[in-house]
Amino acid sequence: MCGIVGYIGHRDAYPIIIKGLQRLEYRGYDSAGIVLFDGESMQLSKTKGKVEDLKNKSEATISTSGKLGLGHTRWATHGVPNDVNSHPHYSNSGDLVIIHNGIIENYESIKKALIKRGYSFESDTDTEVLINLIEEVKKKEGVKLGKAVQLALNQVVGAYAIAVFDKNKPDEIVVAKLGSPLAIGIGENEYFIASDASPFIEFTNNAVYLEDKEMAIIRIGKEIKLRKIEDDAIAYPNILELQLNLEEIEKGGYDHFMLKEIYEQPRAILDTYRGRLLADQGLIRMAGIDQNLEKFMNANRIIIVACGTSWHAGLVAEYIFEDLARIPVEVEYASEFRYRNPVITDNDVLIAISQSGETADTLAAIKMAKEKGAFVFGVCNVVGSSIARETHAGAYTHAGPEIGVASTKAFTTQITVLTMIALKLAKAKGSLSESKFHEFLTELEGIPEKVENALQTNEAIREVALSYKDSTNCLYLGRGYNFPVALEGALKLKEISYIHAEGYPAAEMKHGPIALIDEEMPVVVIATRKGHYEKVVSNVQEIKSRSGRIIAVVTEGDTTVKKIADHVIEVPETSEPLSPLLTTIPLQLLSYHIALMRGCNVDQPRNLAKSVTVE
Ligand code: AGP
Repeated sequence: MCGIVGYIGHRDAYPIIIKGLQRLEYRGYDSAGIVLFDGESMQLSKTKGKVEDLKNKSEATISTSGKLGLGHTRWATHGVPNDVNSHPHYSNSGDLVIIHNGIIENYESIKKALIKRGYSFESDTDTEVLINLIEEVKKKEGVKLGKAVQLALNQVVGAYAIAVFDKNKPDEIVVAKLGSPLAIGIGENEYFIASDASPFIEFTNNAVYLEDKEMAIIRIGKEIKLRKIEDDAIAYPNILELQLNLEEIEKGGYDHFMLKEIYEQPRAILDTYRGRLLADQGLIRMAGIDQNLEKFMNANRIIIVACGTSWHAGLVAEYIFEDLARIPVEVEYASEFRYRNPVITDNDVLIAISQSGETADTLAAIKMAKEKGAFVFGVCNVVGSSIARETHAGAYTHAGPEIGVASTKAFTTQITVLTMIALKLAKAKGSLSESKFHEFLTELEGIPEKVENALQTNEAIREVALSYKDSTNCLYLGRGYNFPVALEGALKLKEISYIHAEGYPAAEMKHGPIALIDEEMPVVVIATRKGHYEKVVSNVQEIKSRSGRIIAVVTEGDTTVKKIADHVIEVPETSEPLSPLLTTIPLQLLSYHIALMRGCNVDQPRNLAKSVTVE
């Protein structure tokens, strides 16, 4: 996710854009840039780092006058965070300039074609390709900027919210949207463009939110003209009068970043498999795996190192890799692994999982494994992070910034990446039949919608939370693929509500923990239909017979567990290997509501930090 801001009107654009970018930093903050048209020339300043760095650099290096400008704060997806890859990007002629939030999936083929026709590129970004495609279309077709943008966008695949202007026509900005948000603020003889209303809410509360596949030509002093990108049909603006305040807007209208990020999971999972999962072609395309397939195929074993929630994602991966790809896997706490002088050979592949890409223990484990000869692969959410740079290869989750300290969308997008890797290896090894492989691709493609369905239980879960908000302990039980989900659910509860919670394999209860069961002990049990169901049902009965209070996560339509448990939360049916992507949702919501009812700081729990960069 990136943040885009634009302005055209009677005020100085610079302060509006800089302040607007600061308000959008929650959307991405690894680099930033601004371009201003001061009436004569374009003034461009961009830098790795935060908006404050951009402000300092701009005020030292460019003229900050001008009534027209674009600004961007980046969350890198293509090209590491540095000055050159920051937006805005010029076209080769220097006449056109663009800012972009999204991913152009087919940018490589377009780039190759443009290079053949004489275009050159400074950056590694998909965005610079797009602005040069627009320039080429504009020149070749002899059309205005708006038409050139429209024709060019009909050649791209992916997601975008873009703003473009031509220095030769500084009274106009062209914007377009597909898959990424774009709002237009309508003022008195001035227009604002932004990823959400936070940059312009203090100037106007009249806004138009573009729909997917819509574009607009914004001319100062004129009504905005909306078009459908595909067929140029006129679209009529639905001008809203916003009643939101600033804080609500940054949180997307949610009360907390954690809740917003829980609800972002359908989009985050989709963005993570976008361009990689090609179910209709029966393909999974992941450059980091494709270029190192032999190492994975010849690996004696895969060692997974991580911490916290990422470690739980690694445990899910252990089940998936061994079950589907038949590759031995060991999952290690990075903090233990790095100090115990493990036996590592150059036939080992190590996968490091980290949302922040900065966790000190995980980074140290990677360095040690490399020194001992292992091939190291990273699964990170922050492009260009220390772990992403330290590993030999990797695959990013495209979850967007995760602001809430408690990891939620990081967990489900990590599992999405690891599942795609396991399926690729299973196909390459022939350990999965073609038909099963295709079934998994189709099922994984449908997961975002099923996550959307699972989120519908939020109100019911809030009701359940009321009965348990004063608990002092809680047990989480799961079997098979859902044992790691039980651990993750327990971590979520303890880290934001400060209730002591433990996760256990459901069958382990009779080896001691069942002594804990009484009417004061809530027990969350994951009892989905595909996954040792009968065994879990008998575990539930054992707990019930000892007066335990049971919250069960079941497959929708379940009638058996409903008769035994005190509370039942339903999730859609899916295959067992993919079930963690759904069963974790109610556990995230349960911990969120209980913590809120206990007056805890959900986004910044006590004693915790978002990234543990110390040992
Ligand atoms: C989980 O909710 C916590 N935020 C914490 O356990 C986290 O998962 C752990 O510190 C690892 O962080 P990383 O994924 O950024 O490496």
